[in-house]
Amino acid sequence: MASDEQQQPAAERPRKSQRVYRTEAIAVMWDASVCINSHQCVNALPQVFRPEARPWVQVDAASADEIARAVARCPSGALHFERLDGGAREEVPEEATVSPQPNGPLYVRGRMRILSADGSLLREDYRMALCRCGQSNKKPFCDGSHRDAGFEAD
Ligand code: FES
Repeated sequence: MASDEQQQPAAERPRKSQRVYRTEAIAVMWDASVCINSHQCVNALPQVFRPEARPWVQVDAASADEIARAVARCPSGALHFERLDGGAREEVPEEATVSPQPNGPLYVRGRMRILSADGSLLREDYRMALCRCGQSNKKPFCDGSHRDAGFEAD
């Protein structure tokens, strides 16, 4: 029989750099090391995702379903959730897609493993933002540097 860790998608397993905010219904995991401040979560649910507040995730300010929908919009994979109330897991597209963002990164959706040049695993996730401006300090991932660099592309 598989352990809980084997059954849980890699993207939802605890990472060293992440913080967890939880209620009895949902746990929200935030990994600051891959956050690109796209503010998709803030735009979706401003009463929950409040960058000026501490903690910045007010996880009890909306329903677990609303929070799950907002988390699933996070393009970088900095946010993930785990339902503790039996609610549905995030739906992961069967097919991977790569979408260039105007003046910004490539958004990748779908199960993806990013390997380093020596073949070791850099990251496994189903939402990522990959740098296409060449300015990121966390290549191949976007770190938001395209904004300061004034990167322009369709
Ligand atoms: S595209 Fe964001 S840092 Fe390069």
